[in-house]
Amino acid sequence: MTTSRISGFYLRSVRERLDDLARAGDLDAETVAFFRRGGGLELPIADRMSENVIATHGLPLSVALNFVLNGRDVLIPMAVEEPSVVAAASNAARMIRESGGFHGEADPSIMTAQVQFDDVPDPAEAAARVVAERARILALGDASIPRLIARDGGCRDLEVRVLDPQAGVLVCDLFVDVKDAMGANIVDTVAEAVAPTLLSLVGGKMGLRILSNLPLRRMSRVRCRVSDDALGGPQVADGIARASRFAELDPLRAVTHNKGFMNGLDAAAVALGQDWRSLEAAAHAYASLGGKYAPMSTWRRVPGGLEGQVQLPLAVGVVGGATGAHPGVQAAFKLLRVATAQELALVLASVGLASNLAALRALATDGIQKGHMRLHQRKFTTPEGA
Ligand code: MEV
Repeated sequence: MTTSRISGFYLRSVRERLDDLARAGDLDAETVAFFRRGGGLELPIADRMSENVIATHGLPLSVALNFVLNGRDVLIPMAVEEPSVVAAASNAARMIRESGGFHGEADPSIMTAQVQFDDVPDPAEAAARVVAERARILALGDASIPRLIARDGGCRDLEVRVLDPQAGVLVCDLFVDVKDAMGANIVDTVAEAVAPTLLSLVGGKMGLRILSNLPLRRMSRVRCRVSDDALGGPQVADGIARASRFAELDPLRAVTHNKGFMNGLDAAAVALGQDWRSLEAAAHAYASLGGKYAPMSTWRRVPGGLEGQVQLPLAVGVVGGATGAHPGVQAAFKLLRVATAQELALVLASVGLASNLAALRALATDGIQKGHMRLHQRKFTTPEGA
């Protein structure tokens, strides 16, 4: 039975923490041995993953504690250089845990492939011709991704948008269920497979054939409650609700609010080998969709506490990419124990909410510097084993 509640974890040595994790996380001996050797990435594997490799680049791999998501305890691997991110997320998760933890649901893993056309004669007519051939185009796309079809994924829908009627600029968006993959390669394959047929239907000049990094049909929604008592009193809760309102009113503040949210999300994404550039691009684009840059998460007063919520498009994968190549990422997945891309997306959104709550609580009380400086000091003390 896995528990994410391990008291005194931060006070223990690295070796003792691994003992704790082996028990609490029910980790297999191979994964424990990998962590005991220091984890990381061997040079020959690194050399196959990228180009012009000369060495590997390390980051601390930590575990955030106390998370409960949809009733299940989860241990969250995090890789981040900034002190206080892991402690802050664990602390906030402990407070949220008292009110039942995080709850959420994620849409199916629908990614968008885009095919661009320019100089299309009569673009509205051309768009109608594509829509009329919808079934044939989706079938063509499916034929290019047999391995995904075998896993019940595939092309689900398409849409045609005329972006500039005068210049005949038209885009065809294809929606593909990529199941447990992040899906970039899959939808790029689909875009390239259907583009010649689309060209024969619309005329003009073919342009780009590439995914959109804003997967608006792949939303994850997470919410949580935290009580006044857990936060340190109603004034603290009021302060956090006011901080949330500040971010909703002011894009300058919203950026910093969102940076704090992404602190946790990115750290878990890096540990789990996810394409964090894509996650960042999507999250900030979504935050601006209303025409004004907005906070990704909000906190509202409810009787006796606060309710936090976030809704984000999150393209993550538990198969493909670094998940198949990087032994550190594979070990991190052993710790996390998620089976689907949707579960992983909910984990990342929850860590974001925890980081955000911790930052707002600190800002609404002592200010951020007190805790930050204490943890920064650690960099100047002698490391274990030195
Ligand atoms: C620092 O990494 C993150 C914060 O600035 C976030 C925030 O202001 O909400 C503390």
